Order: sequence, then structure tokens, then C-alpha cells
Amino acid sequence: MIPPMTILITAGPTREAIDPVRFLTNKSSGKMGYAIAKSAADQGHRVILISGPTNLNVPDLVDYIPVESTQEMYDAVEHWIKKADIAIFAAAVADYQPANISEQKIKKDAETITLKLVKTPDILGSAKQKFGYQGVLIGFAAETENLEMNAREKLKRKGCDLIVANDVSRKDIGFDTNQNEILLISVDYIERPPKASKQHLSHIILEHAVELAAPRDMD
Ligand code: PMT
Repeated sequence: MIPPMTILITAGPTREAIDPVRFLTNKSSGKMGYAIAKSAADQGHRVILISGPTNLNVPDLVDYIPVESTQEMYDAVEHWIKKADIAIFAAAVADYQPANISEQKIKKDAETITLKLVKTPDILGSAKQKFGYQGVLIGFAAETENLEMNAREKLKRKGCDLIVANDVSRKDIGFDTNQNEILLISVDYIERPPKASKQHLSHIILEHAVELAAPRDMD
């Protein structure tokens, strides 16, 4: 019997405003993160789901924190992560945001316009280093090349206990699909479950998460 834990999950895309009606975003549907949230809630864990805009129904018995921009997701994670035993970052967070948000809708008079972008805050990378989080930290890696090598680099750079890597160059898995194929990479092991539904894979991800959390519980 697994003791109930508090699991924070980020999901969906973030939106970076350009002006009052336009924004930069990506193809994340939220399906991967919501599948994990549903499985975790079904198992009796307390789930805090911090999500960018999606068309999905929020799973039952989940504490839902809607956000739009990366900064809003950053602030929500900073606030809620203190309560978590496990944090899983499945959101597709924008890496850049416009340097300035125009207060008025930008006119389309000019033939070309240049948008200056600046880096967004790294939420996953801040969990241990800035927020002082000490629970199990699980990041995702969305890669289009050198999947394993790039995922290992993220595991180390972002201070994760586990990275869930997926190849987002494929049409049949990754963004906005019902199925996924993932690599689970920790410092000690690598596991390659076969391609399956995101709902099925969410159980495997949770098994690893709970196992990683178990030794800490006995402290
Ligand atoms: O939502 P779906 O349509 O179901 O698609 C699922 C998915 C492809 C979005 C998901 O499986 C996935 O790969 N999520 C991570 C997407 C991503 O942003 O990967 P990344 O390699 O760019 O980022 C690495 C990690 O850092 C991720 O855990 C990300 O949430 C986190 N990050 C990234 C940038 C940033 N500023 N802050 C972050 O926390």
C-alpha cells in the first residue's frame, strides 16, 4: 500500500503576450501532464495541477491552478512546491518571451517588424536551486535530436532525480497525441518502456516517482 503523497504537476503550454490579442505559444495539449494528474489522483494522492491553457477537463479531485505565462507558472510553482513530496514538470514552457508587451494592438502598417525576445525564468532549474525544494524532482526533455544525450545533460543541469525524455520530432508521439514513447533516465538507470497511451505511461512514471520518494519517507 503506497502512502498518499502530495504531487505537484505542471502541464500544458505557456503563453507569452506580444500585445493584448497576440501571444507566442507551442503545440502542447496538456494530455501528458493531465494523464499523470489523473493517475495520481486515482491512486489517492493529493495533486496540485499547475496548468497553462488547454481544452481538457480537469481530472476529479485535483487542486487546479490555471496560469498563462511562464512567469505566472513560475510564481505558482514557487508558492506550491513547498508542500510537495514529488514534483513532475510536464509543461511545455516557453523559453523566450517578448522583451516588451505592447499595451495597444500592434498596427500592421509596416512590411516587417522585429520582435526582441528575452529568456524566460527556468522553473524546473529553480526548484532545488532557488525554491529550496528537497522532494523528488522529475523533469521532461522534449528533444528533436540526440534524445538520450540531451536528456542526460538536462538531468544534471536542472538537478533532477529523473528525466522523462520524448522525441518531439515524431508525429505519432509527443505533442498533442494520445500516445507517447519515453525514456526514463536517472543517474543510476535508463528504462525504455514500449510506446503506449499517455494514460498507461503515466502509471509507469508515477511508479518511478513513488519509488524514488520512498527512501526519503523513511528518514
Ligand atoms: O502536452 P502534450 O500535447 O501531451 O505533449 C506532451 C509534451 C511533449 C509537452 C511533454 O511530453 C514534454 O515533453 N514536456 C516538456 C516540454 C519542454 O518544455 O521540454 P524542454 O526540454 O524544453 O524543457 C525541459 C524541462 O524544463 C521540462 O520539464 C520543462 O517543463 C522545464 N522548463 C523548461 C523551460 C522553462 N523556462 N522552465 C521549465 O520549467
